[in-house]
Amino acid sequence: MDFQLTEEQRRIQERAREYAGRELAPRAAERDRTEAFPEQELRDLGRLGLLGVNVSRELGGSQAGVVAYSLAMQEVAAVDASVAVAMAVTNMVAEVVSTFGNEAQRRAHVPHLCSGEYVAGAFALSEPQAGSDPAGMTTRAIRTADGWRLDGTKQWITSGDHAGLIVVWAKTDPQPGAKGISAFLVRRGTPGLEAGKHEDKMGLRGSTTVPLILEDCRVGPEALLGKEGDGFRIAMMALDGGRIGIASQACGVARTAISACVAQLRAEAGPGSGRMDPGGDDDPPLCELGEFGAPRAPQQAFQLRLADMATELDAARLLTLRAAWLKQSQQPFSREASVAKLYASEAAGRICDAAVQLLGLAGYGRAAGVERLVRDVRVQRIYEGTSEIQRIVIARTLLKEGGR
Ligand code: CAA
Repeated sequence: MDFQLTEEQRRIQERAREYAGRELAPRAAERDRTEAFPEQELRDLGRLGLLGVNVSRELGGSQAGVVAYSLAMQEVAAVDASVAVAMAVTNMVAEVVSTFGNEAQRRAHVPHLCSGEYVAGAFALSEPQAGSDPAGMTTRAIRTADGWRLDGTKQWITSGDHAGLIVVWAKTDPQPGAKGISAFLVRRGTPGLEAGKHEDKMGLRGSTTVPLILEDCRVGPEALLGKEGDGFRIAMMALDGGRIGIASQACGVARTAISACVAQLRAEAGPGSGRMDPGGDDDPPLCELGEFGAPRAPQQAFQLRLADMATELDAARLLTLRAAWLKQSQQPFSREASVAKLYASEAAGRICDAAVQLLGLAGYGRAAGVERLVRDVRVQRIYEGTSEIQRIVIARTLLKEGGR
């Protein structure tokens, strides 16, 4: 086992960190407030090779692997989780087309996804009555003389109104269940494809989430991704990988919550303070301070909570990087991706909530930026499979494999 990052992984991590700090940080709160879609930012991420981190160079990607992708996601999410989710779905769509597309489809779309020219990719699987159970979808694709006709409504589609390419799942065979679902590549602006009204969301307000209405939407035969009836399997495999992205996003957000608490505790300890009692009042110091300075007695409780938060984040990161490494090494990773997504999103929720509690009213106010983390992190327990769905995946694998 080797915990060292390669030079390339460090380079990608550094590139993402540097861009996020320089370009994303100054306007993250504003994007949250105004719900401005980060179009230029996504184009920039494309230019930096961060929209196709695990896509081959031949197709315009960075070919840096899944661990590098996770590290980049963590850096972007640590600064702006809204940009991170659009980045995550775009990477997922670029990988889906690279993996399941034929040569013509790969060449037609993947370089434009990776470069940012398409701005974003979208993943149109969920429907109003088929979120956790996509096999229950009702969107239909009917074969025509010159391709396919798509009809139905998709819901909760990240970047659905800005994405240059949307993967749309539809039933090519009306039989119930997962069989008979196929995937289609639909370009933005295709007649018969309309984006509906933005969801007014609790968090991730700088990312758009829209319904997509398909009405007599005609696409050519070249739009079919993979084989007819293969759509469900494609979606599940894509989501296995997508869940690593969401776990990474959760780690990034949680890290920022912890940093905010550390900054506060250091500030309270005061510059050059070497004791538990930086205020210098008459109470005897409770203990000697470490190199970072330390707070007064009530703040010792902060430190203990902070230590738990940091421990949870470490566990979340390790689980996430394990899943990333397994996928990168082409080993089975479905269960591990669900474990990572389940644990990281739940832990990040606890960590962000605790950060508000530790910072008190300062954390509750908008200026500190921590309340945004609480709002942004909440959906990570819901999208790309709820925590309950992750538990189903984990339990099913355990039952199938007898536990390992
Ligand atoms: N890899 C490959 N194949 C898989 C698979 C996987 N991970 N999981 C299932 N399959 C295959 C099965 O082998 C089976 O194939 P056969 O019939 O040939 O044996 C077929 O798919 C059906 O499998 P199941 O019977 O297990 O399917 P199910 O209906 O019971 O569902 C589920 C399983 C895991 C609960 C699944 O429905 C699921 O993951 N639901 C959650 C959906 C989800 O995550 N949605 C997120 C929307 S996208 C999003 O949020 C993006 C965004 O914008 C941020």
